[in-house]
Amino acid sequence: MRILLLSNAYNSLTQRIHVELAYQGHNVSVELTLNTQVMAEAVELYQPNLIIASFVKMAIPEVIWRRYICIIIHPGIKGDRGPSSLDWAILTDAEEWGVTALQATGEMDAGDIWSSVNFKMPSRSKSSVYRTEVAEAAIQAILETIERFESGHFIPEPLDYSREDVKGCLRPYMKQEVRGIDWASDSASTIVKKIRAADSQPGVLDTIDGEAYYLYGAHQEDTLKGTPGEIIAQQHGAICRATVDGAVWISHLKQKKRGEQSFFKLPAAMVLSESLKDIPELTRSLKLSSTCKTYKEIWYEEKNDVGYLHFDFYNGAMSADQCNRLKTAFLNVCTHPTKVIVLMGGQDFWSNGIHLNMIEASENPADESWRNINAMNDLVLSILTATTHLVLAAMQGNAAAGGVMLALAADQVYARRGIVLNPHYKRMGLYGSEYWTYSLPKRVGHKKALELTNNCLPMSTKVAQEIGLIDDCFGQSIVSFRQQIEAIAQGMAQSPDYEHRLALKREMRLTDERCKPLEDYRKEELEQMKLNFYSSEQSYHVARRNFVYKITPSETPLHLAKHRQFSHPSEKCAVVLPNAKTSQKSTLGFLHR
Ligand code: COA
Repeated sequence: MRILLLSNAYNSLTQRIHVELAYQGHNVSVELTLNTQVMAEAVELYQPNLIIASFVKMAIPEVIWRRYICIIIHPGIKGDRGPSSLDWAILTDAEEWGVTALQATGEMDAGDIWSSVNFKMPSRSKSSVYRTEVAEAAIQAILETIERFESGHFIPEPLDYSREDVKGCLRPYMKQEVRGIDWASDSASTIVKKIRAADSQPGVLDTIDGEAYYLYGAHQEDTLKGTPGEIIAQQHGAICRATVDGAVWISHLKQKKRGEQSFFKLPAAMVLSESLKDIPELTRSLKLSSTCKTYKEIWYEEKNDVGYLHFDFYNGAMSADQCNRLKTAFLNVCTHPTKVIVLMGGQDFWSNGIHLNMIEASENPADESWRNINAMNDLVLSILTATTHLVLAAMQGNAAAGGVMLALAADQVYARRGIVLNPHYKRMGLYGSEYWTYSLPKRVGHKKALELTNNCLPMSTKVAQEIGLIDDCFGQSIVSFRQQIEAIAQGMAQSPDYEHRLALKREMRLTDERCKPLEDYRKEELEQMKLNFYSSEQSYHVARRNFVYKITPSETPLHLAKHRQFSHPSEKCAVVLPNAKTSQKSTLGFLHR
């Protein structure tokens, strides 16, 4: 079928729907810049069989819904209506939530229901639920809708509040007055809930030292205490504020817009730096139990000869300092008498590469980019050259750019089924590094490596597995993914083949190094990156600035808008690979045979 995807942004949900539908063999085109005229034009050009609006903030124009079936993907249970669905679900402690596929009509979210899928509501942030449970339910609802649509005889269910299974209601836009924190009475769990209901957007507006900030990244704290509202500790950029019954960590702040001056999210301690001079910096051991309530970016657990190294960086963005800390932690756990190390990333993201916000905020973004990419490369190098252990990458959440290449440094790469991978840099105006010119062709071959880095499209885990980018994908939920990862890692550690596999890994690294030293790959990549950072051609700096300040493109990129491709010339500036030599396409298949 020809399916037109309408969305205000090419966000993770839209990407996920795009890759799943394409995988099912549908012909999918995407329109992003949404106003009545652009939407109508896209429909006219594409003549779709079905329209799916995955993330649309305005009403679908009548000229469209009168002529076409247009399915709105609403992140709420049957009967739920309004623009703050998930926010209300989190704030009101909904135990069950869902996604409803409803037909666009003249009234917002009130059309006939084609499908509705519910899930158990986890206690995580809005964006985390959106990327995980909502995305999963949305795919199920869309596939069911398509099946029903193709059958030609399905009659969608009119919204009827008298039905027992219609439990939702119309709720208003959630204003800051509802979100606001009362530090004199709100408990730590209430504060965490309020911030999570507003994370990643719009944040909870609060005042610190007389200045207005939006708060993000909340974590409850088990042990620290103080006067409610006061900042009592800091750790790796996060601040800890006392509550009436304990304390909460807040990892990020954004200053409220002042006149024309806009701000973006940064680590809280960086934003407040001057006023935190007397606030103690906490240091905590790497070994923190997973049940301990506190703020932890990097932590480590060990079980049955397997070490699990978690790195849960907000939004998957990794600054130079975070890369250095992770490298130190990795080298440290390599000295433990375990056999397998599993790199767990974070629950929401595996990694999205260098920290573009920190770079934007620095005095000299080119220098900071250089520092960040070198720190990232040092981290990747430490994994590529770790010959004491077998190393697994367990991607629980989405990954992009250098973040994908970070995973490829491991011996085996596994992903939770349903995450989205973006193994390319070009849209950020970068050639890329993280030894991608070594690891990517080694896994997928040269031709495919160039295709992936030039086409700049997201990829499903199923496709990633089929082309050899990853070794396997499984586990719809985070819990089941972790259980399977544990079983694989333990199986590997206890396998009679273990020593043989480790010896093979060492041998292959030596062979590859003789063919072409890793240092050469790094040098070649960094030469290109230097041009991206320091030449007068500013495309990276412009792309980064637009990304950080969330300046949306004025039109849908052509590689997504198939319906506009024929009238435009193809894009230039292809990425090329230097002469890369590796012992074989993949060193790694041997490990799980
Ligand atoms: N640095 C800083 N922030 C980043 C980031 C990075 N490398 N990658 C993502 N983020 C932030 C986004 O700004 C957004 O912030 P918000 O919480 O204020 O909304 C959040 O992470 C989620 O990103 P978003 O784009 O909304 O999520 P998505 O899942 O819809 O899209 C990506 C995913 C990865 C395709 C997109 O975020 C992206 O292109 N990231 C940049 C990747 C990159 O070029 N890295 C640098 C080169 S190594």
